[in-house]
Amino acid sequence: MTARIAVLISGAGTNMAALVYASRMPESPYAVVLVGSNNPEAAGLALAQAEGIATFALPHKGLTREAHDAAMEAAVLEAGADHIVLAGYMRILSDGFASRWAGRMLNIHPSLLPLYKGTGTHARAIAAGDSHGGASVHLVTPELDSGEVLAQIAVPITPADTPESLAARVKLAEHQLYPRAVADYVSRWLDPAALLARLRALALALPDTDERESHGSPGFRVGGEKTGKYFAYFADQHHGTPHIALLVRTGSMDELLALVEDQPEVYFKPAYYGASGWIGIILNRPGVDWDAVAAWLERSWRGAAPRRLTRLMDVAEEF
Ligand code: GRF
Repeated sequence: MTARIAVLISGAGTNMAALVYASRMPESPYAVVLVGSNNPEAAGLALAQAEGIATFALPHKGLTREAHDAAMEAAVLEAGADHIVLAGYMRILSDGFASRWAGRMLNIHPSLLPLYKGTGTHARAIAAGDSHGGASVHLVTPELDSGEVLAQIAVPITPADTPESLAARVKLAEHQLYPRAVADYVSRWLDPAALLARLRALALALPDTDERESHGSPGFRVGGEKTGKYFAYFADQHHGTPHIALLVRTGSMDELLALVEDQPEVYFKPAYYGASGWIGIILNRPGVDWDAVAAWLERSWRGAAPRRLTRLMDVAEEF
């Protein structure tokens, strides 16, 4: 499955171009579906158009931050993007915009974070006598340049370097770093080991659980070594489906079928297990709602757990 990224720019858009051309290589896990800008004159917009990519430009002048962000976000949603990639987008984002895209919005910053947040990074690195500058790709959070760093590249500072010459060299490095970091990040949900690790952490956080293989798949049980019952299975492309999925128990066949009909991109009826009311929740897709996955796990756990445990949970939830 190919992730759909919207790239937001304000200026030259050379990182955007690097992202676009990397996406044209065979087996790229992402496609650029929109290039958006707060600057209608941004050079990158013309390139995007020439490449047949949808563009959207809206000057921020005269708009509140929230109103401008909302318009940009509407264009992103309209394009069907599942991730936003900021590439020289010179805007502070409103908290709401950043929060709504938490975990799905990336930025590149021209320093080795946590060093030199904000602007003037190259001049600051040179003035400090640093041996290296560099660039960092990080997740965007409401606090400027402070989200989790996903990837970095260091670039030496030579004695003759000016902020401009260093910036140019760092950009060459950025053009290598960003497409790779974006590809790795959007692929993380296609990696069975990463998905299983995340699921395992949620399943085993529930009381009195253990993991035991069942028909070659990892399974999660509640109720102790001897009398434990399964409440979840991890299914990696079983029986010819392309899905990597969590299987949990639903309340009834009606509920199962209704969910599958309403949201076929999220749910499916698995072979064998489906017949006894287990539903498949597809995990190898961008934008999985992990809170919903956790809620399904808890619900299925409740259905299988002995009363002494569900009672404890009820009491805990009252506080
Ligand atoms: C890059 O140096 C990037 O690190 C910073 O803004 C610059 C954008 O350059 N966030 P470009 O528009 O991609 O050429």
